[in-house]
Amino acid sequence: MNELAGKHIVLGLTGGIACYKAAELCRALIKEGATVQVVMSQAAQQFITPVTMQALSGRPVYDSQWDARPVNGTANNMPHINLSREADAILIAPCSADFMAKLLHGRADDLLSLLCLARPIDKVPLLIAPAMNREMWAHPATQRNVAQLGADGATVFDVGSGDQACGETGDGRMLEPQELLDEVSAFFQPKVLVGQHVLVTAGPTYEAIDPVRGITNQSSGKMGFAIAQAAREAGAEVTLVAGPVSLATPRGVSRCDVKSAVEMFRVVQERASAATVFIATAAVADWRPAKAADQKIKKGGTGKAPELTFVENPDILAALAQSPRGLSRALYCVGFAAESHDLLANAQAKRLRKQVPLLVGNIGPATFGQDDNALLLVDELNAVEMARDSKLSLARKLMIEIAARLGVKGQP
Ligand code: C5P
Repeated sequence: MNELAGKHIVLGLTGGIACYKAAELCRALIKEGATVQVVMSQAAQQFITPVTMQALSGRPVYDSQWDARPVNGTANNMPHINLSREADAILIAPCSADFMAKLLHGRADDLLSLLCLARPIDKVPLLIAPAMNREMWAHPATQRNVAQLGADGATVFDVGSGDQACGETGDGRMLEPQELLDEVSAFFQPKVLVGQHVLVTAGPTYEAIDPVRGITNQSSGKMGFAIAQAAREAGAEVTLVAGPVSLATPRGVSRCDVKSAVEMFRVVQERASAATVFIATAAVADWRPAKAADQKIKKGGTGKAPELTFVENPDILAALAQSPRGLSRALYCVGFAAESHDLLANAQAKRLRKQVPLLVGNIGPATFGQDDNALLLVDELNAVEMARDSKLSLARKLMIEIAARLGVKGQP
């Protein structure tokens, strides 16, 4: 997707077996359009060679504050200054417990710690991906350092959990390269929804006919999951109420799985009072069988089809939009409309009928199950088209549109 086009990342490696993941991370950053300058501590070179990192990054690796090679055309024998000035971020991955302790105290006895201390603190963010044994991670000294590094303005990513190289199992593994890539991309998104709590519905619903059969639809949930991810990246607290889909939960999002429309409605009602924004992307079934059979309905050999009677499902979006908090916009409600034709007219009519301030139209058959989409945003003033793009890019743009309508000030 070229998520990181134009970004220059200084990738610092410190001692730890997770250095092997840094090789993959370097490739992934470059694949997304970033340029990567690798700096290694001496300990890191016990685990992976500068030759490997040079080959992957396409740039010479630096490891000494006494390195006299010119950096970006400047030959003043100050790699600790020159390497950090061009960076959009310094990412330490893996970051050992020892290196965190060093950063915390402002020590600067090797090139990497020196350039972290010498970086322009307001312009060059420091991102830390810890990697260590579970006891080292859980130690009060490490946890104290994590908290203090955060207070000093660094962003300390989470650690993974699982089997460790030492044979123990627990917290402290470095996140996987793809997870770190997601974290870095998320870091660069504008934090326009800080302080907001966004509630999202996604996916289809499943309305049971009997214990083995039911009625559902083709919604993949991808748009709703992208919206949950984008809202989280924009700094919101996010609750995702998902119908039956097989998608991974976006990092940092709280997810609640449901099946039927009635269940989705109940969970949404429970969570709505804490929310400030409600985005209904779920393809909720309009009708459900009046009564699901207790046992599987058999053919019976008569050739006669079973007769199903239906009752209408609650309209979750309309109910929330027309609640006191919805009407006062304390809960800003956003609806989706999957249409097959006349998108503008249908979206406008749906917006008025449901009484939502913002309705997002898309052509259903052109987007079901796809990774891209095109949107039409309709509010009381006008209609804004968003050209075909990945669902995540569109979701990010939608967050900016929603934030503007909330009157929330954006942060760079
Ligand atoms: O009426 P229609 O299904 O076309 O409306 C689509 C919008 O309403 C979507 O935002 C969808 O999530 C929401 N909706 C809902 N509950 C329903 C039906 C639709 O929240 N029962």
